[in-house]
Amino acid sequence: MGDYRQAYDRSLRDPEGFWREAAEAIDWDVPPGRILDDSDAPLYRWFPGARLNTCHNALDRHVDAGHGDRPALIHDSPVTGQQRTFTYAELRDEVALFAGALRRLGVGPGDRVVIYLAMVPEAVIAMLACARLGAVHSVVFGGFGAPELAARIDDARPVVIVASSCGVEASRVVPYKPLLDRALGLAAHQPAHCVILQRPQLVASLEPGRDLSWSDAVAGASPAECVPVAATDPLYILYTSGTTGRPKGVVRDNGGHAVALRWSMDAIYAAGPGDVFWAASDVGWVVGHSYIVYAPLLTGATTVLYEGKPVGTPDAGAFWRVIAEHRVNVMFTAPTAIRAVKKEDPTGKLIEGYDLSSLRLLFLAGERLDPETYTWAGERLGVPVIDNWWQTETGWPIAASPRGLEDLPTRPGTPSVPVPGYRVRVVDPSGADVPAGQDGAIVIGLPLPPGCLPTLWQDDERYVRSYLSAFPGNYLTGDGGRFDADGYLYVMGRTDDVINVAGHRLSTGAMEEVLAAHPAVAECAVIGVHDPLKGQSPRGFVVLKSGATITEDQLRTELVAMVRDRIGPVASFRRVDVVPGLPKTRSGKILRRTMRGIADGVPEPVPSTIEDPAVLDALRPILTT
Ligand code: COA
Ligand code: AMP
Repeated sequence: MGDYRQAYDRSLRDPEGFWREAAEAIDWDVPPGRILDDSDAPLYRWFPGARLNTCHNALDRHVDAGHGDRPALIHDSPVTGQQRTFTYAELRDEVALFAGALRRLGVGPGDRVVIYLAMVPEAVIAMLACARLGAVHSVVFGGFGAPELAARIDDARPVVIVASSCGVEASRVVPYKPLLDRALGLAAHQPAHCVILQRPQLVASLEPGRDLSWSDAVAGASPAECVPVAATDPLYILYTSGTTGRPKGVVRDNGGHAVALRWSMDAIYAAGPGDVFWAASDVGWVVGHSYIVYAPLLTGATTVLYEGKPVGTPDAGAFWRVIAEHRVNVMFTAPTAIRAVKKEDPTGKLIEGYDLSSLRLLFLAGERLDPETYTWAGERLGVPVIDNWWQTETGWPIAASPRGLEDLPTRPGTPSVPVPGYRVRVVDPSGADVPAGQDGAIVIGLPLPPGCLPTLWQDDERYVRSYLSAFPGNYLTGDGGRFDADGYLYVMGRTDDVINVAGHRLSTGAMEEVLAAHPAVAECAVIGVHDPLKGQSPRGFVVLKSGATITEDQLRTELVAMVRDRIGPVASFRRVDVVPGLPKTRSGKILRRTMRGIADGVPEPVPSTIEDPAVLDALRPILTT
């Protein structure tokens, strides 16, 4: 039996023994006694009774072990022309100081801090400063609009918000502070203070009493020590798109998270202390939380924080420059980023200009990895390309080829095999396992391994309803797919209203709520259709209210602007058609799946329950153009 198989079988047969051993890689103030608390199933808790501090494990322990001079964080920012490296000792000191500043502003254990910064070192510093105090951070991605930020502020109810004056995109400077002010105008909850990082590209005006600059906040602050917390205490909340407009507050605990991420670096990413690890994602997404910030630092590796794009900053060789310049050993990004590079530099000639000899592995995740992109990257870079499948909810891979355990061969179109800890099943609507080769819903038998969400923020009921009720005893991933005869898992796409645009997770339901709010719209549907670059892109369809006088052009312009304003530019909502009617079942359910199939040119049976086939026929030509 191979090392993977052995580890996998053991993780399911003896989960407590398996994770007890993995927990030895973490420094505990009170070491785990009991490993799994199942007394409140289906809600499970890992390492009850144990205590630790995540920031201590990410920073102080490495400094204490004599590695203070090792680079911890490299900020590489082609959009501002800046680069800066922090050693472990320097990062520990910056974090301790900012933690002292937050403490002075009233932040204590369990308090929430919303972080709305761009891809700057201060984002990492603010996150770790919260962890140091036992406070709970909630990072909001910069590409969201003010109402999305407001919804997160109202749900998390932060004591302090840490924001930057602006973000710097390839094409423009995005003023963040006015977005924050607008969000606070919309939100019912108000924080005691906002700490604003003034960036030279755009200095923001501050509201006296409430706002203070980052430099004023740290001036005279005394460094804070690490506060030990319960392993089961929350480390962060990360909001993610569900099927409705209300985002889900995914909670991450301290203990299970530290154990699982540290283990994943060895077992899946084959990266160890001193390696240079680069996740070209954004700290606003789960990939950024797990593999820009926590996992590399828990491991004592060097992490790269890249403030730029795969193309246009300045060209499609940007990724190769970063690898060569910082001697990156393991890289992680989204398939979209590779597709963007491939589009600009199809033969990969820009690669030739750089020494990529340090690179051992390329990991891709965030959306389905199409075989062409997999093959292109593997051939051009000459390193194994590892597809890995996971979600905000799990925080680390559910399926991958675990390179630290065994060099299982990878194959195009599949993220390989279930990772130890995850009892992955493919089931039919009755919950029975389907045979290999047959599609079904992908579920994970409970308990989920450490590191996965224990619940949704202050909403156990929604957690159980959304994830644990469809197939009792199992977690519903929301993805569909199949196993092949060799146990390789094929993840084919969401079975709900979540779409993935350029690796960004978005809710079509949320976009429909925006369209429906327009006074001229009687009804609407938004579907995700295939996009050669971004994987998927949203398309809207609206039916006019009778008597509406607005022109179709005007309506389209207003609807696109509304989605950009309310959800954010990241939605990339550009196309909406005015249609005479929407196809529905006799019970009134819009046939979104059928519409998507027609738009993507894939066979999708028309349900026999369709109310009026003529409505669908009228829509076909619009869907296929
Ligand atoms: N702050 C403010 N605005 C942001 C933003 C941020 N952090 N991130 C994106 N936006 C804006 C962009 O400026 C763009 O605005 P525009 O409509 O005015 O041009 C819009 O949101 C869409 O952005 P994006 O999806 O990034 O598209 P793009 O066309 O600018 O770039 C790619 C295309 C493929 C280069 C880019 O999507 C990419 O790098 N994708 C990789 C995704 C990734 O790493 N995902 C993380 C999961 S692992
Ligand atoms: P997010 O929560 O933003 O990480 O998005 C999670 C969703 O992205 C999953 O439910 C999948 O639909 C999709 N996804 C992520 N990684 C992969 C992958 N490697 N293959 C297929 N789909 C993926």
